[in-house]
Amino acid sequence: MNFPSLFSPLDAGPCHLKHRVVMAPLTRMRAARPSLAPRPLNAQYYTQRATPGGLLIAEASPVVASGFGNPGVPGIWSEAQVAGWRAVVDAVHARGGFIFLQLWHVGRVSHSSFQPGGALPVAPSAVAISTDFKAMTSDGKVAAYETPRALETAEIAGIIENFRTAARNAMDAGFDGVEIHGANGYLLEQFLQSRSNRRTDRYGGGIENRARLLLEVTQAAIDVWGANRVGVRLSPYGIANDSGEADPMPLYTHVVERLNPLGLAYLHVIEPRSSGAGRAEVNWQNVPSAMMLFRPIWKGVLIAAGGFTGEAANEAIAAGHADAVAFGRIFIANPDLPRRLQRGWPLNPYNRATFYGGEEAGYTDYPFYDEMAPA
Ligand SMILES: Cc1cc2nc3c(=O)[nH]c(=O)nc-3n(C[C@H](O)[C@H](O)[C@H](O)COP(=O)(O)O)c2cc1C
Repeated sequence: MNFPSLFSPLDAGPCHLKHRVVMAPLTRMRAARPSLAPRPLNAQYYTQRATPGGLLIAEASPVVASGFGNPGVPGIWSEAQVAGWRAVVDAVHARGGFIFLQLWHVGRVSHSSFQPGGALPVAPSAVAISTDFKAMTSDGKVAAYETPRALETAEIAGIIENFRTAARNAMDAGFDGVEIHGANGYLLEQFLQSRSNRRTDRYGGGIENRARLLLEVTQAAIDVWGANRVGVRLSPYGIANDSGEADPMPLYTHVVERLNPLGLAYLHVIEPRSSGAGRAEVNWQNVPSAMMLFRPIWKGVLIAAGGFTGEAANEAIAAGHADAVAFGRIFIANPDLPRRLQRGWPLNPYNRATFYGGEEAGYTDYPFYDEMAPA
């Protein structure tokens, strides 16, 4: 029997992937300012990483100005942003690649300096992030996290509409689908987890209520795209941005069981060993494996991410623990990652100092292993 590998084809919804080396969504904070529209440099970066039949998940993009919290991240709420993304998508398509957009609302991870009118960021409850990390502010400095304003029940429909509009905008930009960002301590995960959700209305309290917003947002994206062009990303055991459910299995089992019948393109889970990979090097051992826990529950295509080498990814796929693997940090540093993994070529090391913000350095200037070889 032939076991599948990173280089076996895979169907994710209507996308016929020719390999399973997925580019993870990666915030790089290099959009045009003040429009927050993607610019030619961003198109170049994605084009470098596009391969025929390969899937890129474009960086988290706020669905509305109030869902924004990092300088220079591209939005998906304005016409200029849609036009900027269209150029990115067209360039990726010209290489034969697929590209989904990750839809984002940061909730309490924002700061009033980013908010329209200097308002407080919104969240399920007025509970501030409490970690050693600080909030980013619009002038690039850091400050203590603020206590967010709890959304009124009547406002939640507006958040769902923000995601619906953004999903439509992503379609106008030509993307192949959208991924709902339900991970890493941002708004949708803030609603999921009891640590950040102290509500007493239908969006808080029991598991069913806490899962409601994620499911309603997912449905809004499905209304626009059809289910097989919508993915959902979860980090059940993550701790990013002061997240973390004391007992994740009942909550996330409920979520996954509710997502199962929808017919999504994929479910994308982050391994807890890499939680916080964006901010510091962590590689914990002896933590639960999200893909191992959720593979038996999830009935569709499963993408795993977090701390994978090519070898570990091939093992996970051959064992059936995941159908595809998304790579973050090593895809930043290796524009030709699929070919390097396929051929066993060595990898460029990544430079953490250039992850967030800047221009070409650490973005489009990582060398290809063999610039002259045919793609
Ligand atoms: C610079 C950087 C930016 C990231 N931005 C996002 C993001 O926009 N959305 C998201 O869901 N995860 C984000 N992550 C997490 C990655 O998608 C991925 O889950 C994490 O890096 C672990 O995978 P890796 O070990 O292959 O890097 C980011 C990580 C890094 C290093």
